[in-house]
Amino acid sequence: MRKKLVAGNWKMYGSLPRNAALLAPIRVAAEGLACDVVVCAPFPYLGQVQSLLTGSKVAWGAQTLNEYAEGAYTGEVSAAMLGEFGCSYVLVGHSERRSLFGESDATVAAKFAAAQAAGIRPVLCLGETLAEREAGQTLAVVGRQLAAVVERVGISAMRAALLAYEPVWAIGTGVTASPAQAQEVHAAIRAQLAERDAAVADEMRILYGGSVKPAGAKELFAQADIDGGLVGGAALVADDFLAICQAAG
Ligand code: PGA
Repeated sequence: MRKKLVAGNWKMYGSLPRNAALLAPIRVAAEGLACDVVVCAPFPYLGQVQSLLTGSKVAWGAQTLNEYAEGAYTGEVSAAMLGEFGCSYVLVGHSERRSLFGESDATVAAKFAAAQAAGIRPVLCLGETLAEREAGQTLAVVGRQLAAVVERVGISAMRAALLAYEPVWAIGTGVTASPAQAQEVHAAIRAQLAERDAAVADEMRILYGGSVKPAGAKELFAQADIDGGLVGGAALVADDFLAICQAAG
């Protein structure tokens, strides 16, 4: 039985007082939650998040990282730096990184490898655009994005990771994939892993992301291959985030 996990992706939102107000109730409520809880904060707040969450049941992470260990890469942040702030997770290949910042499958795979080498759990995000879905390419696109990483790091390295299926057309749009639509892709992702290693496929936690809200979360999380959520907008409202965590059991 895979333990469910709910991760909040704050994106480029937050301020010192707002983060403190958001995390205070989450930290307390997390004590009574059955699922794992993670918050992925903007870089400048990692120190604050670390000090507010150390000793709690809430883990924290970043939203991206650079693939190199160090060097002349102005503005970038390495995996080891994230580790110094206690990050145990990092999002890799979020669709906004792919589309707005030009991250290719190869770059995403390199970032995944860098996170893992530093002992930080990558949450690899996969998902198709609306045009790709309408062209019947959903499984091909998601499969290609996943294969690029598996080929680079090897199937057993996937053990330390999580996957997140986030259809681009559902992110921040208020349009959630239906439980059946999401389940179909989650099952295909798991089947693709199982071709290489059945145990890895069985253990892999595959989160759903894209307009997850308290209403509807339970039904999504009840699907056989949906192991939790990656939550954007609703992760900025403590009551909503906690209601989604509760829906995860
Ligand atoms: P959303 O974002 O929940 O606001 O759709 C999800 C994400 O981008 O991870």
